[in-house]
Amino acid sequence: MAYILGMDIGTSSTRAIIIDEDGKLIASATSEYPLITLKPGWAEQKPEDWWKASVEVIKKVIEKSKVKPGDIAAIGPSGQMHGSVFLGKDGNVLRPALLWCDQRTQKQCDEIYDIFGYEGFIKLSYNKALTGFTAPKILWLRENEPEAYKNLFKILLPKDYIRFMLSGTYATEVSDGSGTILMDIAKRKWSDEILSGLKIDKNLLPDLYESCEVSAKVSAEAARITGLKEGTPIAGGAGDQAGGAVGSGIVKPGLISDYIGTSGVVFSYSEKPAYDTQGRLHSFCHAVPGKWHMMGVTLAAAGSLKWYDDNFGPSSQIKEKYPDVKSYKLLDLQAQNVKCGSEGLIFLPYLSGERTPHADPYARGVFFGLSYLHGQDHFVRAILEGVAYSQFDCLSLMNEVGVKTDKVILFGGGAKSKIWKQIIADIFNVKIATLNVEEGPSYGGALLAGVGCGIYRSIQDATDRVIKEVEEVNPIPVNAEKYKKAYEIYKSLYKDLKDDFSKLNSIA
Ligand code: XUL
Repeated sequence: MAYILGMDIGTSSTRAIIIDEDGKLIASATSEYPLITLKPGWAEQKPEDWWKASVEVIKKVIEKSKVKPGDIAAIGPSGQMHGSVFLGKDGNVLRPALLWCDQRTQKQCDEIYDIFGYEGFIKLSYNKALTGFTAPKILWLRENEPEAYKNLFKILLPKDYIRFMLSGTYATEVSDGSGTILMDIAKRKWSDEILSGLKIDKNLLPDLYESCEVSAKVSAEAARITGLKEGTPIAGGAGDQAGGAVGSGIVKPGLISDYIGTSGVVFSYSEKPAYDTQGRLHSFCHAVPGKWHMMGVTLAAAGSLKWYDDNFGPSSQIKEKYPDVKSYKLLDLQAQNVKCGSEGLIFLPYLSGERTPHADPYARGVFFGLSYLHGQDHFVRAILEGVAYSQFDCLSLMNEVGVKTDKVILFGGGAKSKIWKQIIADIFNVKIATLNVEEGPSYGGALLAGVGCGIYRSIQDATDRVIKEVEEVNPIPVNAEKYKKAYEIYKSLYKDLKDDFSKLNSIA
């Protein structure tokens, strides 16, 4: 029996899994690290922390699985997208990485539009220049830390830094490469036109692979540190969204998924490099060779619930009533105490600005409609509903550009919550399906590696073999009707507050 190791270099933790060739999860291990927020809207992490966590989880998962390192046929990395790892000549980290949710680069995004024109840039890159993407982060470094820029030798994405540490090879692949907005998405290569317009030397970028291609091999040094076998092939892997989509079977026409993790993502498969001419949706290369995808991103999805849990936690009443139940399950129980619509309390989940549909780094979270009636339980339910409205914004945009669906595959932490699942079904007013596998990105990484080393004939072959739908949740018509009305208010709140968000940013 052959085994495959999948990894996800996430925002709150790194996870490694080992699966067998039938897709069965043999073992997993997770290690957490902090997010550094030096100023409002900034978000950084130390690549060295990702490596430390990676070593820990690789060692642990090998030990737990009892699989011989020599029986691991390949490794598939996936990870948080867009983060900028700036390396010097010796592979030394020049500064902490700016993450996907970092919002400091609006000035640099405006500069990108000054160079190419607003519509010109969307036409060229199939995407808007957004603060979270990698290109404006590179311009930010050049303008704000010229010394570091002078020493810059390579720019890597988070999972690609782990590949580099495992192998000494500088490489990325097309799905994560797309999130730099430095690619020609249709041709699946770095864009000479964008690079020359931005005066970024192509040599600073790693080689680009397809996601299931073998891109590197574990070095003797990394084998000694991690316990892996020297020479184990490392596939291209994927950005966490494309990786999650592979790990959830979104690899065929007509399929749409909704991922509720720290961020929330509505993701649709595409046979062609289609894009929204207004750039409201991201249009990237899929991890499936020769295929593409579109996605809309809510920056603070389960992140909003985590913020609530970290700061306020479950109510004392619920803790007393269910002493053996753990935190997020307790929050679910609180939400269940409240009627659909949270009795008029509406939450806008813009805790770190928003990507889709507003592309506004200055938007902020809002609870609207508060009255004496509302208590802690209402806040929790309003958060679940607000995140679902925001994801519905993304789905509606997809419908607008012609992507239709009568079913959405739900995965990520949010898929574990029964009440959140129902709320999403009601607000989307479509059927929601959940799967037999819940790992998402690390599982997708493993399947890609399985294709790369010849265990599976293709990605579709891999997903057909191992992924099954296990549950369907239908919308409740009376709730769907109620939410339709509340969603109209949700939508107009952003329009009403847009200018105030911007003013607030200038004084904060
Ligand atoms: C996708 C995105 C996030 C991060 C973090 O564009 O920014 O989903 O990849 O998970």
